[in-house]
Amino acid sequence: DKGIYPYYMLKEINEQPNVLRKLSQKYLSEDGQSKIDPKILEAMKAADRLYIVGAGTSYHAGLVGKNMFEKLVGIPTEVEVASEFAYADPLFSEKPFFIFLTQSGETADSRVVLQNVTKRGFPTLTITNVQNSTLSREADYTLLLDAGPEISVASTKAYTAQIALEAILAKSLGESLGLKRAADFNLRQQLGLVATGMQAVIDEKDHFDEVSKQYFVEASKAFYIGRGIDYYVSLEAALKLKEISYIIAEGFASGELKHGTIALIEEGTPVVAIATQAKTASLTRNNLEETKSRGAKTFTISTESLAEDGDDIVLQDVDEMLTPLLSVVPAQLLAYYTSLNKGLNVDRPRNLAKSVTVE
Ligand code: F6R
Repeated sequence: DKGIYPYYMLKEINEQPNVLRKLSQKYLSEDGQSKIDPKILEAMKAADRLYIVGAGTSYHAGLVGKNMFEKLVGIPTEVEVASEFAYADPLFSEKPFFIFLTQSGETADSRVVLQNVTKRGFPTLTITNVQNSTLSREADYTLLLDAGPEISVASTKAYTAQIALEAILAKSLGESLGLKRAADFNLRQQLGLVATGMQAVIDEKDHFDEVSKQYFVEASKAFYIGRGIDYYVSLEAALKLKEISYIIAEGFASGELKHGTIALIEEGTPVVAIATQAKTASLTRNNLEETKSRGAKTFTISTESLAEDGDDIVLQDVDEMLTPLLSVVPAQLLAYYTSLNKGLNVDRPRNLAKSVTVE
């Protein structure tokens, strides 16, 4: 039931702070100890490489997860598009462990990979929102997102829940391997801060309504740029805008602009920079300036500690690994209002289905 909301998407965006709080309580004790099934951690410990597999938004959540597994666990992690990986004859490491990210648990592309690697005897874990879904039943292990049903075709709360659960899993695994960085990472507290930071963005939703009316509704194309995990969020931000507003939108690694794609910038083209990482924020800002001098209408999403005068959205500070949980929310809202203000059916965009059970 949508309750007071005109569309499920807005309801699901709004639910995100609570989804994170619930997830944190489910998988972390009050003093921050992991409640993840030790059998899963034992199986993962034996791995020399993690492979994260997903499609669409779930693939994008996997990209963000790579950084957390490599930083907190120290195991090389590859992230793969399911439909590509299924037919790529990949060379596996000796002891791979597979993580399937799938909101619905029914995505055929991901299922083909699961079946391939199961045949070869490799261990598998499905992270899903749907208990007893096909990929949950067919994998060795399952972790549930418990985000509540996601009805809107455009995925929102499943993306942030997947990232939060990857963080919990990475911390739990790193800690069980005796790694100080993982043990010291106060994730329970951090997820609390994230929930508060998300709420602060959601409370500003009228601002995104305005920005969408002024700059996005009339645009035929738009770009998100960033570096590292900010780039990965850019891919998700652009997908949200494409699928429900039908604007041609792309996420670019900001350093790549000058190698070709800056040719797309025209007078008034909206370009949003995500700059939440201390190491790269100023580089991304420089790249955004270059688009501005070619006529782009620019927006900056930054964090309190990296903020500069004139930034459009300043997110509350959280651990840098977790900023995607916050920086994606403005993009979700911009996509939502652009679709709404164009008079489109936000929850049921053309040509798309909620769960994709064909290859
Ligand atoms: C985009 C979207 C899709 C799904 C993709 C995978 O908003 O929802 O890109 O993320 O079809 O679906 P699941 O996660 O159910 O495997």
